[in-house]
Amino acid sequence: MRTARLIRRVRFAAAHRYRKPEWSDEKNLAMFGLCARPNYHGHTYTCAVTVEGPIDDATGMVIDLALVDRVLETEVVHRFDHRNINLDVPEFGEGRMIPTGENLARFIFDRVQSALGSVRVVSVQVDEDEMLSAVVNMGSESNQRGP
Ligand code: NI
Repeated sequence: MRTARLIRRVRFAAAHRYRKPEWSDEKNLAMFGLCARPNYHGHTYTCAVTVEGPIDDATGMVIDLALVDRVLETEVVHRFDHRNINLDVPEFGEGRMIPTGENLARFIFDRVQSALGSVRVVSVQVDEDEMLSAVVNMGSESNQRGP
């Protein structure tokens, strides 16, 4: 059976900063540069979620697009749009995950895959802007067991 990939993009605007509380201000600045500035800064992010599956003969689709949109609204837009990621999203709070594109993509991948159930999520790409993208692919968990 033919399979296809479907890519859906959503956009959100959010603020963040990178800081490890156990490091000195100097060490945070040395590692994270401008991203360590204490008063936060913003990006208009684009998040692209790719799903893959057989093309349903009846609908011509690999997944109900309305379902994808509901999941992305809940898991991505509602959670991140017009928020301060460090302050408003508990998983990225002080001392927890640093809100890099990589961590955002990994977090969104896991959330979206859980919400979509049996439909395979192939990748999640988070763009801070047109110059920087982070991609998490299916099976890229370092502790994933092979078959
Ligand atoms: Ni930034």
